[in-house]
Amino acid sequence: MKQTGEKIAMLTAYDFLVAKLLDQVGIDVILVGDSLGNVVQGYETTLPVTVDDMIYHAKAVKRAVKNALIVVDMPFMSYQNSVDEAVRNCGRVMKEVGVGAVKLEGGAYIAEIVKHLVKIGIPVMGHLGLTPQAINKFGTYEVRAQDKKEADELVRDAKVLADAGVFAIVLEKIPSSLAKKVTASIPVPTIGIGAGPHCDGQVLVVYDMLGMTEEFRPRFVRRYGEFAESLRSAFNSYIKDVKSQQFPTMKESY
Ligand code: KIV
Repeated sequence: MKQTGEKIAMLTAYDFLVAKLLDQVGIDVILVGDSLGNVVQGYETTLPVTVDDMIYHAKAVKRAVKNALIVVDMPFMSYQNSVDEAVRNCGRVMKEVGVGAVKLEGGAYIAEIVKHLVKIGIPVMGHLGLTPQAINKFGTYEVRAQDKKEADELVRDAKVLADAGVFAIVLEKIPSSLAKKVTASIPVPTIGIGAGPHCDGQVLVVYDMLGMTEEFRPRFVRRYGEFAESLRSAFNSYIKDVKSQQFPTMKESY
């Protein structure tokens, strides 16, 4: 797709029903993101998410999907410490869920881990720029790599990861000019989130683009629905109907 110029459409999913709808409409890639820590579990960061959490949600997604490539995020501290630990945890995800690939956050410092995973048959997607698992290092969710030093390092990281064997790299919240440079510098696709139009594909957190996460309004999230409002309205109607004894009618009874 990178070679033909067809853009790659990727969205997150964490459950059976959403994954089924995404697959039905022909999404290319479904990411079981560790953003589930925020949008499903209600944590402030993605750090508390466990491998068991990822497997639980990925299994639900897997049951729904017939065509899309499913990628599972490896959570904080499940792969960074050693090749052995990465093999054990990524191996569990591949074996217990049966998905196509895993995604790891990090630059050149995880290259040896990536190389080994790819060698033993575990496809890896990389993730550079704003890597939410490093929030305690960054201290903020602001745009990354705005200065030359960090931008140069990111380009180097992308090349090292591509050499190590990743099949794609997510670029999160970096200047679009830098994303363009990275995209032209590596043979594998880049998937942007807040990284501008020059990436080979785009990804969003599904509840953000559906307008469910109302307070989260960064400029890179285009809303394709106002589902928080629609759901509130449906819940309100239900409560009103129950209280006023409009629901259920005899037609809705046995
Ligand atoms: O966890 C996630 O949903 C992600 C995307 C934001 C790329 O990593």
